[in-house]
Amino acid sequence: MNSTAPNLTGPNLTELQKKAASGEKIAMLTCYDSTFAKLMELAGVDILLVGDSLGMVLQGAENTLNVSMHHMTYHTKSVSAGAPNTVIMADMPLGSYEHDNEAAFKNAVWLIKSGAHMVKFEGGGSKVETARYLVERGIPVCAHLGFTPQSVNQLGGYRIQGKTEASAEQILNDAKAMSDAGVSFVLLEMVPAALAKKITESIVAPTIGIGAGVDCSGQVLVIQDLLGIYTGVSGKDPSEFKSPRFVKNFLQDTNSIQQAITNYVRAVKDKSFPAQEHSY
Ligand code: KIV
Repeated sequence: MNSTAPNLTGPNLTELQKKAASGEKIAMLTCYDSTFAKLMELAGVDILLVGDSLGMVLQGAENTLNVSMHHMTYHTKSVSAGAPNTVIMADMPLGSYEHDNEAAFKNAVWLIKSGAHMVKFEGGGSKVETARYLVERGIPVCAHLGFTPQSVNQLGGYRIQGKTEASAEQILNDAKAMSDAGVSFVLLEMVPAALAKKITESIVAPTIGIGAGVDCSGQVLVIQDLLGIYTGVSGKDPSEFKSPRFVKNFLQDTNSIQQAITNYVRAVKDKSFPAQEHSY
């Protein structure tokens, strides 16, 4: 089958994991509305992430901290309407999963009832038990490790994680614990490529990278970054905005958004993206 053909058999997480196990790279993109969801489904994107990055790219905020469950369920419904045949992952926003597992379960169910097939939340450590609690109750989970945007204030800004031996070991141990707890995927954001490779080779769950090198089992980008149209917080001078190293503008070689998305999927599948220049 052509890897960029639409998936007509319906969204199936197990098939995706088999794809990853066979060595095929998983192409994921953020998506917040039905128009883009339809374009992405046609382009053969494997997973649509309704990311809480919507706080920045849709709402114009400086970070993701003010995104609510209402925002997330609204956008998850829109994406689900546009891409009925594609796996949808929805972010659990800040405050929706940290306090107790029962609340995390209720909020995860709300996202699933809004059209998500899987939820994603940030952090390792005590979140491993939350992941296990959800997985045991039938909710597929993606663990988000490395740079975790909801902890931006604690992490002191948008910084690469896992650069010291101790922090690299912490991320590796969290990834192992999350995989053992039964998560479906581990997303690694802004970590050295060598660490992401080591993690990918050490755990059962497939890894999805953003700023984590080419050796992850798959890649994700924010759609506005892929199109080169995000220029920073509302009200700030766009000429002062500098895209992170891991971003590539796929629209600059074509005048079609559909083609740019298709080219991204191809580049992920044939491992030409991310190149070394996009990695740490
Ligand atoms: O919210 C989001 O878009 C994300 C990506 C940065 C992976 O979590």
